[in-house]
Amino acid sequence: MALLTWRDQLSVGSSEIDDDHKNLIGFVNALHDAVTASESEKVVGAIMLQLIEYTRDHFAREEKVMQAAGYPDFPRHKKLHDALTRQVLVFAQNYLRNPTVQVKRELIDFLAKWLVEHIIKEDRRIGEYMRGKKVWL
Ligand SMILES: [Fe+2]
Repeated sequence: MALLTWRDQLSVGSSEIDDDHKNLIGFVNALHDAVTASESEKVVGAIMLQLIEYTRDHFAREEKVMQAAGYPDFPRHKKLHDALTRQVLVFAQNYLRNPTVQVKRELIDFLAKWLVEHIIKEDRRIGEYMRGKKVWL
């Protein structure tokens, strides 16, 4: 069963960003499924790498949108993205050194919690700003 499910509460009001978030949820679910199925480290590691690369691209897209619209809270939001990127790299290094189920579960739990909270508390505020500015209708 999927760990995370998309729901309307997660919509920020832009289909482009929502699609990115749906894909991120898909990657977290794929990682969860692979670990649950005791897939090889080759499979788990490949999903982890895809997830890291996709997250980097997604953050770049979201940051471009915020900057283009003059989003006032951009510096703080960017710091949250940078902190997550650093934390995930620490997890990935732990995983490479010590690929236990516990390390993998910790990463999955951390990502699942971070993603949902970040979308609801932070990314939705971008949407509110955009609607106020009539950038997104
Ligand atoms: Fe964000």
